Amino acid sequence: MRILLHIDDIEAWRDALAERLPGAEIVTADDPADKRRDADYLAVWKPPEALLAEQTRARGIVNLGAGVDALLNNPALPAGVPIVKLRDAGMAELIGDYVRYGVLHFQRDFDRYRRQQAQRKWQEHAVADKRDWPVGVLGLGAIGARVAAMIAADGFPVHGWSRSPKSLEGITCHHGDEGLVELLGQVRTLVLLLPGTNSTRHIINAAALAALPEGASLINPGRGSLIDEAALLAALGEGEREGRLRGAILDAFPEEPLPESSPLWWHPRIWVTPHMAGPTPLDEAVDQVAEAIRAFEAGEEVESIDPEAGY
Ligand code: GLV
Repeated sequence: MRILLHIDDIEAWRDALAERLPGAEIVTADDPADKRRDADYLAVWKPPEALLAEQTRARGIVNLGAGVDALLNNPALPAGVPIVKLRDAGMAELIGDYVRYGVLHFQRDFDRYRRQQAQRKWQEHAVADKRDWPVGVLGLGAIGARVAAMIAADGFPVHGWSRSPKSLEGITCHHGDEGLVELLGQVRTLVLLLPGTNSTRHIINAAALAALPEGASLINPGRGSLIDEAALLAALGEGEREGRLRGAILDAFPEEPLPESSPLWWHPRIWVTPHMAGPTPLDEAVDQVAEAIRAFEAGEEVESIDPEAGY
């Protein structure tokens, strides 16, 4: 059995996978073309088009990340091959910590204190009670559900939203178009953990931003395509004065790395991080990869993604 592996830090991944699947021949983009082509299985993260185009015999693909948007948009993706994605695999807790930091950043006024520091201004703000700081989480997949639970465990009321109805303990769940408007109207921090698909593109547009309460904040560890950037900048306002939207912490962008010319870099109420919220922890991920390949090989039912839905 030949497995094509493609991801950063390839040596560590190759060793960990070889340990779990001792009989497998693991090849990478660095192997000669005749050796790396026509693998039985692909375990890949953002493979180059040319590398994917060589793979004409794949019986299963494991996407080495939670979002399958990049893979589905690759023109060389072989049709009809089942795709399994990583589910949580330790990413949810890391993203949960990122979101926790972001929620506290705004709830405890770190944004305002930073600006005050620049002016050497000593002024304390009354602390908003956590119970009066509802947090909205859009997307209740493996990651969104875990993040929602972490924020709720910290004492914040949490509203979750998904396209179809869901029920999660301790979370007020909303769904569908009406449910989205209902959620937006009552959250002070909005967290985006939806997959990047045609139907979620620019879900955070001018109308959605206008539906948020005055002074709300935004955290996006999900996908850049979820936000209409022009509408975001308009809602944030210019200069030092806070607009309707108080601030945004952004980890994902339509183009990555974020181009140097992007106005997001220097906006005073935007915090940019380089897609670091949820790196894939190797051990849990490789366990899932090995299990998926074992299941493919045994002809067992696998929980594959729906390419039409995009997740
Ligand atoms: C990272 O963005 C992932 O989808 O795993």
